Amino acid sequence: MLQGTLTQLVLASCNGSATLRNLGGLASVILLIFALLYRVLCIPVAPSPQKDHSPPRLQLPSWKVTRFFFEKRFDFIKDGFRATSSSIYQTRLFQHAAIVLSGDEGRQVFFKEKGLCLYDTFSIMMGSSAAQFDPHQVGGVVKRMASIQRPDNLQKLIPLILSECQRKMGTWGRERILDPCSSLHEVAFHLVMAIASFDIANDAALSARLKSLVDTVDSITNPYSTWFPWLPGPALFQKFFASMQIYWIIQAAIRTRKRSGIKRDDMLQQMIDEGDGTIRIFGCMLGLSLAGARATGTIVTWLIMHLSSDPTWSLNVQEEIKTFISTHTSSSSPLSGNALIQALSEIPLTAWESQTPNLDFCIRETLRTSQPYTAVRKNTGPDLTIGAYVIPSGSLVVYPFLDTALDPKYYSEPTRWDPSRVLKKDTPFIGWGAGTHACKGQRLATLSMKLMVAYAFTQFDITMVDREGKKINRVPVPEWNDPATCRPKEECGIKFAEK
Ligand code: HEM
Repeated sequence: MLQGTLTQLVLASCNGSATLRNLGGLASVILLIFALLYRVLCIPVAPSPQKDHSPPRLQLPSWKVTRFFFEKRFDFIKDGFRATSSSIYQTRLFQHAAIVLSGDEGRQVFFKEKGLCLYDTFSIMMGSSAAQFDPHQVGGVVKRMASIQRPDNLQKLIPLILSECQRKMGTWGRERILDPCSSLHEVAFHLVMAIASFDIANDAALSARLKSLVDTVDSITNPYSTWFPWLPGPALFQKFFASMQIYWIIQAAIRTRKRSGIKRDDMLQQMIDEGDGTIRIFGCMLGLSLAGARATGTIVTWLIMHLSSDPTWSLNVQEEIKTFISTHTSSSSPLSGNALIQALSEIPLTAWESQTPNLDFCIRETLRTSQPYTAVRKNTGPDLTIGAYVIPSGSLVVYPFLDTALDPKYYSEPTRWDPSRVLKKDTPFIGWGAGTHACKGQRLATLSMKLMVAYAFTQFDITMVDREGKKINRVPVPEWNDPATCRPKEECGIKFAEK
């Protein structure tokens, strides 16, 4: 999910600006640091909204706003609506005027208006002048993601994804209690790495190091120091140096591949063959890890947690998978290990995409309830109006997805996970975003999650347990203030016991 501020840095890195293209490796990175410092210290302050049509102002100092935005985003945004008694309010975020939207009109304007630009927020959120975005350049990353998801490519990825599931889940032994914040995220990361680079995925130590660097880049920490909002805090430098190390890993992988003369069937090979430069390959690899792996890890974790504790849906989905496998394979007895991987791999992509309706309902409901994503855009002009209010050109515009997802007008008892919800035609669903910036990895993400669930539920009995390891028959509430992993509010584990 393009849902970490650092995804932005990644895409920024691959905008292929003249400066970056001309400078190589380390030199460009050092230049970036200076550029970044210059940008942070000289960041322009957007004009304040016109007084007469301004939305009500949230009375909170801007350093507190920035801090709460990183530490308690969901509560902060919700409390803001309450404190201003308004569905739209203004505040200051990253030294910019920021307008926070909610409600139907707010959502429609947010996703429809062409002037609201995602890429222009990158430099502001990151404090980096390296991210002066040209959306057409970012198109390179999006184009690459489209090519990974061509049906012939996706079909080829099925055995690869399943083998990675087998490899990672095989290390859990006969019984394992998994941490909901990390274990399935690791599997998702390795799936993504296997798609991106054969060599990195096959080097356990390297890929573990890469995961830890990506986690640093992706951590939701405030990049600005709290006491001096114009000063970059240590987190910014940590993230920056982690990105540099990732860059070097990718650079080495490119060099090794070219020198070896061995062709592999992965994204790295495709990009080398098409003459993409190191910066763009780095951007795509990191973009895939940040935009794809984390979101897939979070959603599949909650999906498995819900399925393991909801007897009706657990049965529906497990029966569906059994019937699905027996319809498409010749074997009449239950399969496991390599035979299972082989059988599942031979099922056509079109069947995976169209013949598991119960699993589709469960994925949709999990996208709704377990994705505390807040989208930010910059209004690149002209001024916009929502009701009586003006959103001035130059301001940031903030929209929390949970405003739609938890709206009782559309979803009765909104916090209840209920895949059987019958949605009326006009019910808004923004689990994959909407408009110009809707998710570009939806097909790959859905397929990966289906394969993980099919493999996991065929191989293991899965139950939710409390901190003492005792079975519980419910799923804890998600911590919506944690946009990174959306961890459960209570300590709990997911128990995988081999069948
Ligand atoms: C379950 C997993 C995923 C979820 C829930 C998810 C969700 C989203 C959402 C909500 C957005 C819109 C962001 C916004 O409006 O600000 C988005 C954008 C995006 N996603 Fe995903 N995503 C997932 C997986 C992936 C994967 C696997 C990839 C890569 C193959 C990917 C690539 C992207 C890209 C490139 C964008 C930005 C599109 C643009 O700016 O035009 N996502 N995603």
